[in-house]
Amino acid sequence: MKTLVVYSSRTGNTKKVAEAVFESLPEPKELFAAADAPDPEGYDFIALGYWVDKGTADAGAAGYMKRVKGKKIGLFGTLGAYPDSDHARQCKEKVRDLVSGNEILGEFLCQGRVDPELIKLMETKMKDDPHHSMTPERRARHEEAAKHPDETDLAEARKMFARLAVLAAEEGQPCAG
Ligand SMILES: Cc1cc2nc3c(=O)[nH]c(=O)nc-3n(C[C@H](O)[C@H](O)[C@H](O)COP(=O)(O)O)c2cc1C
Repeated sequence: MKTLVVYSSRTGNTKKVAEAVFESLPEPKELFAAADAPDPEGYDFIALGYWVDKGTADAGAAGYMKRVKGKKIGLFGTLGAYPDSDHARQCKEKVRDLVSGNEILGEFLCQGRVDPELIKLMETKMKDDPHHSMTPERRARHEEAAKHPDETDLAEARKMFARLAVLAAEEGQPCAG
């Protein structure tokens, strides 16, 4: 089974998760940033990583996702919101839509530190915008996000993708007897 990991990452959070996912997978395997990734044909299992941008996968990841059809895939991503929030659930749904036509074996999503430049913008230029202005609740969420992805997140990602690789390989085998 040939495995491919493709990710998009602006500030490094999703790259960290991609590297953990990659470590957990059996050989033969390859790891690429979406901009440099090869054609998905020729791979049996593809792990696709994105960061959440305005409620869905970022454009770099989404562009590659469109090229993937009829494959066994695993999704992983990072976002500023809490992974158990409604927002996170809605993001996952949107990403699932982007990869329709593939068999999703599993999904992983964890928080990732929000770019301090964006936080600064929220505190200044967006301060009168109710959707983005800095509130105590939003500040607490950003403080928590700043600790992620942490070792626990990376261990979970490794564990999940090791399992997905086994699933992908098993399903690919013809029935014995
Ligand atoms: C322009 C921009 C838009 C973002 N939009 C969202 C969003 O809609 N929801 C969310 O939970 N996080 C959002 N985030 C936070 C990122 O998804 C999060 O920090 C992520 O871990 C960044 O990943 P990266 O380091 O791999 O680029 C946004 C961040 C930026 C910079």
